[in-house]
Amino acid sequence: MEGLLTQLIDRCRPFARSGKVANYIPALEKADPDALGIYILDRNGLHAQGGDSQVPFTIQSIIKPILLLQALMDNGEEFVRSRVGVESTGKPFDAINISNAVDQEILSEHINPMVNMGAIVMCTLIRGGNYQERFNRLLELTRKLANNPDIDVDEEVYASELATGNKNRALAFLMKSCGLLEGDVEEVLSCYFRACSIRVDCRDLARIAFVLSNKGRDFMGNQLFPARYAHYVNAVLMTCGMYDGAGDFAVTVGVPAKSGVGGGIMAVVPGRMGIGIYAPALDKKGNSVAGIRFLRELSKQLELSIF
Ligand code: DON
Repeated sequence: MEGLLTQLIDRCRPFARSGKVANYIPALEKADPDALGIYILDRNGLHAQGGDSQVPFTIQSIIKPILLLQALMDNGEEFVRSRVGVESTGKPFDAINISNAVDQEILSEHINPMVNMGAIVMCTLIRGGNYQERFNRLLELTRKLANNPDIDVDEEVYASELATGNKNRALAFLMKSCGLLEGDVEEVLSCYFRACSIRVDCRDLARIAFVLSNKGRDFMGNQLFPARYAHYVNAVLMTCGMYDGAGDFAVTVGVPAKSGVGGGIMAVVPGRMGIGIYAPALDKKGNSVAGIRFLRELSKQLELSIF
């Protein structure tokens, strides 16, 4: 397997040249645009890695499926569904998903947990006395899913997001104005920005993806959440995880996945494996160029598509 990974890394690395490292959050611009790393964990406990798999990066939007899981575990499916819909927006991750937002019910149907508006609402659904407590529960869940107690926040990226995240502020205030967001907007946003700034590597993502691929059970056999929630999260990842690139990704790769502007992609191959990728040069939709290319080739070689 590692031979195949090395071969695909060499073949896919040059594709990064057509992308660009995210710079709208200034601290992200320091990443090496040529980096490409991969880690795979399969159902037989076999793992394989290649390239820059040990380089740390921030999880960014890949926290969204974990936020969804936490919201489901704290509130149940029906309540979460009533606050954040499941339809694909077909729009960029930070889009204003309704131009004439007047009513909470209409707005919640137009967002999903994988776009920023939905993820910000999900921060309000985490149980806890204050936002420090809520965030800590999310961080603990992330550590548990990755079986890595050392996972923590990149404070530099957090400060950078907090200072420049005015589009997210606009989205949050819009939702507040129509009753979809409760509580203090800055507190909710600080939870969202901290969540995006959690530092991981490819192995962490592969392990988290593995639990989702294995109906909520980790590689040591512990049931971390109900199988039904893995079903829910994977279905939303399939249709919304790659934003306005989800359709193309379904056709060319064919597995539930989530990207982040830090350059990560987490891919879930149901019943088979979890995959973590890092390649920070992004396409115009905010998805990793070399990462998608790699997954396309890997899917062909290993027949990963669920279709
Ligand atoms: O909301 C933001 O701007 C970021 N912290 C996360 C966005 C993101 O990763 C989108 N993914 N491709």
